[in-house]
Amino acid sequence: MQPLEITSCSCGSLEENKEGHNFSVFWVLVSVLLGAIAMLCKEQGITILGLNAVFDALVINKLNILEFIQKLLRKDKLLESAGLLRKGLLFRITLLMSGGASILYIRWRIMGTGPPAFTEVDNPASFADSLFVRAINYNYYYSLNAWLLLCPWWLCFDWSMGCIPLIKSVSDWRIIALAALWFCLIGLICQALCSEDSYKRRILTLGLGFLIIPFLPASNLFFRVGFVVAERVIYLPSIGYCILFTYGFSLLSKQAKKKKILAVAVLGILLMNIMRCALRSSQWRSEEQLFRSALSVCPLNAKVHYNVGKNLADKGNQSAAIKYYREAVRLNPKYVHAMNNLGNILKERNELQEAEELLSLAVQIQPDFAAAWMNLGIVQNSLRRFEEAEQSYWTAIKHRKKYPDCYYNLGRLYADLNRHIDALNAWRNATVLKPEHSLAWNNMIILLDNTGNLAQAEAVGREALELIPNDHSLMFSLANVLGKSQKYKKVYEHLKTTSHIANIFICFNRLCRHQCM
Ligand SMILES: *[C@@H]1O[C@H](CO)[C@@H](O)[C@H](O)[C@H]1NC(C)=O
Repeated sequence: MQPLEITSCSCGSLEENKEGHNFSVFWVLVSVLLGAIAMLCKEQGITILGLNAVFDALVINKLNILEFIQKLLRKDKLLESAGLLRKGLLFRITLLMSGGASILYIRWRIMGTGPPAFTEVDNPASFADSLFVRAINYNYYYSLNAWLLLCPWWLCFDWSMGCIPLIKSVSDWRIIALAALWFCLIGLICQALCSEDSYKRRILTLGLGFLIIPFLPASNLFFRVGFVVAERVIYLPSIGYCILFTYGFSLLSKQAKKKKILAVAVLGILLMNIMRCALRSSQWRSEEQLFRSALSVCPLNAKVHYNVGKNLADKGNQSAAIKYYREAVRLNPKYVHAMNNLGNILKERNELQEAEELLSLAVQIQPDFAAAWMNLGIVQNSLRRFEEAEQSYWTAIKHRKKYPDCYYNLGRLYADLNRHIDALNAWRNATVLKPEHSLAWNNMIILLDNTGNLAQAEAVGREALELIPNDHSLMFSLANVLGKSQKYKKVYEHLKTTSHIANIFICFNRLCRHQCM
């Protein structure tokens, strides 16, 4: 087995002669640009610039890290250490780093200064009080990531919430994972720095650099991240993993006697990984499969149950959805979104008592949760507790200024209470916020019609039809009004112009004739 041939690079982009002075600034800038594009797709894309720098130093310049550090530490040899960095390398690395810094600066200008506000459920370890618990759990997360690189069997779209219970004491057996990770890492790092063989040093440093650098932004070391473990953050580190794996394989195959068995084993691993990749890609194709596949990996994660439930509810399977929502609330008793959705379904199934309990609990936990306030209002309305319902609607509107549906429901409440002016105002508000809110328009027309304000009803109907010309129920209501105000001819005209609703037209044609006779 030949050693990996990556020590010499003949890529046309880096036309470097022996002195290392000739190279193309253009291509370095292109790599910065591509790094920026990668970052637009996913933030850690920017770490590719670090990989480029490592590749440049180790593979193209064949830099000896240990020697470099030793000389750097001894002041009298500072100049010599600079000599190790050939001029071109220093310039290119400066170029890459300033490119990276500019990209980060632009991102900071666009995204604002504050980091996103993550909550404890997103990343439980980073909210632990003691530094010890935080450190242990971060390290446990790293070992999980390493394990996923080795054996990508547990893949899950979300590892937050209760998915990985925190390690709180050293007696937790999962500590072993940390020990194993650091044992391997330290072993590799020692070899990378101190091995006799300079080729080995270089390739191990390269592999480790590629493994670790792209992972740094996800490591919680510099800032809190909003996830625990994520498949996406190990895409780039997998480059380093592949280098280390291949190098290890080449070492083994030099020594091993039974090369065939080794080859078969590696082929087997490759085949399994290919199959796993195909399976996983197919799971990502549909929400249902993605969510369901997570149930076996993270059964303790309330978000998984919530998503499965939501998916079922969207498909109309309410009773199954209820089961999953209940499980989500059981796993995380403060999961307000699950409570809201569950309360909503129960409301529709007329299990009002429990719906009310859930929704009031949700707004108790999160007092600015507008949707839950509105749903609570609807339930209270159905329970005929009108004052409380009105209060809930107004609270919802207070927390979400543009809430047309809530104004609509408020209007219905006022209409039930015979507060006609208020009802009309509320519906008017709904249509101001959402001009295509056909239900609100319709209710206005009907209310005006029923209270004998035919002229006003007609005006509102015409206004509405101008905004949503093809709404059949609006046409119907307006025709009704026109019919009542004895404008039979107008009704006829009105319905005739809207020819695509022939059925209503025929129906009204008959109605008119009947009334005319
Ligand atoms: C309608 O909106 C106005 C302005 O936002 C507000 O002052 C008023 O109270 C609302 N009325 C109703 C009944 O919703």
